[in-house]
Amino acid sequence: MPTELIAIKEDITAMPLDAIVNSANRRLLGGGGVDGAIHRTAGEELYQECLTLSGCMEGEARITKGYRLPAKWVIHTVGPIYGNENGHEADMLRSCYMMSLYLAVDHNVKNIAFPNISTGVYGYPIEEAAQIAVDAVKEFIAEEKHQLEKIYFVSFTDEDLEIYQNLLK
Ligand code: APR
Repeated sequence: MPTELIAIKEDITAMPLDAIVNSANRRLLGGGGVDGAIHRTAGEELYQECLTLSGCMEGEARITKGYRLPAKWVIHTVGPIYGNENGHEADMLRSCYMMSLYLAVDHNVKNIAFPNISTGVYGYPIEEAAQIAVDAVKEFIAEEKHQLEKIYFVSFTDEDLEIYQNLLK
């Protein structure tokens, strides 16, 4: 069965999926934006498990349980800060999607949601970031052995949603 790519506008912390992806920072101990929302909803146990992970580099991903979130797993990835990575931003952002999907496949995840990684505090222009996100996901599902059934691109604004809907047409 082909993997379905879906653009939606939603609060990712409310999604009862196998996994949601968190747009975190290298310390993995929470922050603002979607990171803050995920930690607030998941509760203290998420923070405690993150303490055992000893951080994460840009472009890499780590997995934890979801605790009080409706999602079973949280895959934490660290996106590039736009303009701060010596021109490697696009490769790092692509790697966030790829590494998150490798972890998802290792944990038999069938449905997963990504926020718009790096497009908030980290300043990545949404059009560029969305193109990288969709290209990376399409490359992964075409080239890797996996059991992924649904992959959600979750926007928090109508503008972002429209960008993803146009890319997925
Ligand atoms: N559900 C879905 N998307 C959300 C939610 C939510 N509950 N809250 C915010 N977003 C969206 C933002 O609107 C933005 O489009 O997630 C996208 C990513 O924005 P940020 O959360 O600011 O993440 P990012 O730009 O990757 O910066 C990461 O910010 O919060 C800190 O600790 C985090 O240092 C890290 C940095």
